[in-house]
Amino acid sequence: MIEQGFIHDLLARVDIVDVIGRAVALKKAGQNYLGLCPFHGEKTPSFTVSPSKQFFHCFGCGAHGSAIGFLMDHRGLGYVEAVQELAQMVGLQVPREASRDPAAGQRRSLLEANEVACAFYRRELKRSPAAIEYLKSRGLTGATAARFALGYAPDDWQALKSAFDSYEEARLVEAGLVIEGDGKRYDRFRGRVMFPIRDRRGAVLGFGARVLDASQPKYLNSPETPLFRKGQELYGLFEAGEAIRVKGRVLVCEGYLDVIQLAQGGFEESVAALGTAITSKHVATLLRLTDQVVFAFDGDAAGRTAARRALHATLAVIPDTKRVSFALLPQGEDPDSLIRSLGAEAIETELARALSLSQWFLKSLCEGVDIAQPEGRALVTAAARPLLESMPAGGLRMQLVRSLAEVVGTAAADLEALYGLAPVRRLPAARPGPRAGSGARPVESLKSQLLRRLLAYPELAREFGPALADLLGQSGEPVDRQIAEVLSVAAAHAGSSCAALLEVLGQSEFADQYRALRARDLQLDDDVEAVREEMRDGMLAIEEARVRTELDALKPLLEQELSDPLRERTRVLLSRLNELKHQRGAAPLVRP
Ligand code: UTP
Ligand code: MN
Repeated sequence: MIEQGFIHDLLARVDIVDVIGRAVALKKAGQNYLGLCPFHGEKTPSFTVSPSKQFFHCFGCGAHGSAIGFLMDHRGLGYVEAVQELAQMVGLQVPREASRDPAAGQRRSLLEANEVACAFYRRELKRSPAAIEYLKSRGLTGATAARFALGYAPDDWQALKSAFDSYEEARLVEAGLVIEGDGKRYDRFRGRVMFPIRDRRGAVLGFGARVLDASQPKYLNSPETPLFRKGQELYGLFEAGEAIRVKGRVLVCEGYLDVIQLAQGGFEESVAALGTAITSKHVATLLRLTDQVVFAFDGDAAGRTAARRALHATLAVIPDTKRVSFALLPQGEDPDSLIRSLGAEAIETELARALSLSQWFLKSLCEGVDIAQPEGRALVTAAARPLLESMPAGGLRMQLVRSLAEVVGTAAADLEALYGLAPVRRLPAARPGPRAGSGARPVESLKSQLLRRLLAYPELAREFGPALADLLGQSGEPVDRQIAEVLSVAAAHAGSSCAALLEVLGQSEFADQYRALRARDLQLDDDVEAVREEMRDGMLAIEEARVRTELDALKPLLEQELSDPLRERTRVLLSRLNELKHQRGAAPLVRP
């Protein structure tokens, strides 16, 4: 970890135009610079670099990011390497990690422990006929085992004793290699084939471990450690890196052995989640690396569920320019078993039959529902709502709404109205309904549009911060918490570019959502004045909706005895509503 304060100073000194200008020929075009995108082949330039935002964005392929992101994506550097290179360019010294940041020292020491254990397990594999026999029985070659650095943990309570100087070191427990209980220590992994899980650059973060027979549990994994976050890492990313670049796609399957078998069968571009559901974080990571993601899920009920989850995770982060598809394998098969029984061609066949995202979207919604009946169609309509709402506004969402509209026999505009999705880019007017509560959706979508604007224009976050903070609900709704977070980060880093802001927000629990908003909606039009107007109007619209909701709630009480405070409150609300109508009427950017 490098301190955020330093990243800030760094991005404030670096000029992204310089950095990218070294790799791409850029020409000034208005406020921005334009060039041929280095991330996809193109003949007319759609790659834009904004000096004011310190951000690049390709309108052709959707690539985007800060100077740090550019070096990572373009040169394949890791985060720390990219930071170091930039620091060198502007003559800054990256703060010494170990002294500044104790966590970095710990990480290094855990990585080293994993490295030592990994080498030990590999040596042990060579000495274990039973483990070698097992891998052979699964059809793996020695070369494959070497490529994936497979190993074997001997069936021994303290085998690692011989690998480390001291078996008592705390880091063995912290790395999840050793378990401590009742004052005794023993190896976590015993009598298992070891699968090291490596990060993009090959550092060992943890292990998966399989028994050689039918005993349970079949797989053990490293526990969560400072290095290893199950919901974020992908198995095989290091081994697949080159193939993903060359083939321009990645296959995502469910198991360790699926990845390895696929690689051996010629599909080196394969990865797997680590026994957890696919998250948006996973998908976002993969979509940064490549334009095409293909999920290959087992042909059983669990596989179907996994494919549904993967669909949800994808919708939140997919840009219009990328392709995601879903191969649902035949009943009872996984990629490993398919290759073993029918050969690698069987995988080609399955990939050719893979469902597009829109096909799987509709199919998964309609599965088991009788859409010949109005009730069935209503059910599908309701089930689709959270999926569509999780998507940023854009071409793909529009297309999904249209396809869905056909299936449920409704006009697309009716669906959009029902869902409260804005069909246009402008901030929609709040349309508070007759009952309290029915106005909530427009307010939520107004807020998420404000949030998007704040991410692109931190200077507006500082300008509107206090007024906006007043408008936020106390309910702890995610969108409220996100706006509050963006406001506070923007306030804490006065004068920072939007790229710097996004780097800081990368540490947030909402990093995925911010990434999704940024992925599609970071427009490079620099017409701040128009956005400022839009923000003003959006805030008035939110307040108007809120006032109306409160008035609606008070209405039934008006017929009864009304206490003086309530009567007074009603009067205040009515006059505020009048004011708001006037103010919005004076600047009717958003028409009710
Ligand atoms: P599967 O049960 O589909 O196993 O689990 P598999 O990959 O086909 O394994 P083989 O072919 O019998 O060796 C899929 C993935 O779920 C995780 C592992 O990551 C596994 O690869 N898993 C499974 C566990 O973490 N623990 C378990 O006990 C089982
Ligand atoms: Mn299997």
